[in-house]
Amino acid sequence: MKILLTGGAGFIASHTCVELIEAGHEVVIVDNYVNSQPEAVRRVEEIVGKSIRVYEADVCDKAAMNRIFDENAIDAVIHFAGLKAVGESVQIPLTYYRNNLDSTLTLCETMAAHGCKNLVFSSSATVYGVPDEVPLREDMFCKGCTNPYGWTKYMIERILEGVVNADPEWSVVLLRYFNPIGAHASGRIGEDPNGIPNNLMPYITKVAAGQLKQLTVFGDDYNTHDGTGVRDYIHVVDLAKGHVKACDYAAGHKGCEIVNLGTGVGYSVLDLVKTFQRVNNIDLPYVIGPRRAGDVDACFADPRKAREVLGWEATKTLDDMCRDAWNWQSHNPKGYKA
Ligand code: UD1
Repeated sequence: MKILLTGGAGFIASHTCVELIEAGHEVVIVDNYVNSQPEAVRRVEEIVGKSIRVYEADVCDKAAMNRIFDENAIDAVIHFAGLKAVGESVQIPLTYYRNNLDSTLTLCETMAAHGCKNLVFSSSATVYGVPDEVPLREDMFCKGCTNPYGWTKYMIERILEGVVNADPEWSVVLLRYFNPIGAHASGRIGEDPNGIPNNLMPYITKVAAGQLKQLTVFGDDYNTHDGTGVRDYIHVVDLAKGHVKACDYAAGHKGCEIVNLGTGVGYSVLDLVKTFQRVNNIDLPYVIGPRRAGDVDACFADPRKAREVLGWEATKTLDDMCRDAWNWQSHNPKGYKA
């Protein structure tokens, strides 16, 4: 299949690009590089030994999107493009709603006009909000999100369900990611956040590299085995392979499916810190600080539906995730800017 990746230069997208091409698909990328680097695509090309057609454009730009669909016979789209910083979304909510919703609407209109109706969407476990119970199942009622970023993911899911209801020719897979970490085993592509990282693993790798003084563990009084927050960390390469399965599924079915991509196993902040230190034989200074607003005790997936519907399950361990994250960081101290 010829698959368009919106936001194709990003962390999860770049890894997905490698897996799609290695599975025999052809990839076209559109990215405005607002939160990514062209170098990421160059490195993907280096890994797979093939060149990739890239358009530097905004997905909200209807004329540019039309041109991409006119110039390429796109069979399916994976929609990664979107603003994704939780804290920033609280500061500038209108920018988040405008960008994330507008880009999705423009994309779907362009797809429909070109008769392309297979779509995989990058959603997030954030749509579950504050869960009443774990593990989280796709059919659980979402009681509301805790920030505008999460609401954009929730709203886009509902918009896409509406599109499928109105036109049963569409095939949409809504992938709810848990916490993607790690990097490609080559150490050539990985996560490269702007500025000081908000998320745990990129913060840990910057502390390990000596670029940040110490990690602050946000709270040790949660209702978990060691008091620190529990999450479902998933290796980004496992996640990327889940997208390949989702594309295959979308091509052979109609309708809309919501699918969790997680391991089903929760690890605490301190589990991650200890594993990182052991696997990489590196010291990681940390202090216990107060809770971060909006954080929940525990969040992990029920991964059964992904197995049943997509025939996919995560295979990599927390050791793999810690080793590969450090391999990327230590070989690319300044990310793609090095
Ligand atoms: C966050 C977002 C989620 C988003 C995801 C991926 C919130 C509430 N959720 O998930 O919507 O989809 O990122 O971008 O922001 N931690 C520390 N110290 C740190 C950083 C994190 O102790 O410096 C802890 C957190 O309290 C949490 C765990 O590490 O228990 C994971 O945090 P993080 O990596 O930010 O992911 P989430 O908060 O789960």
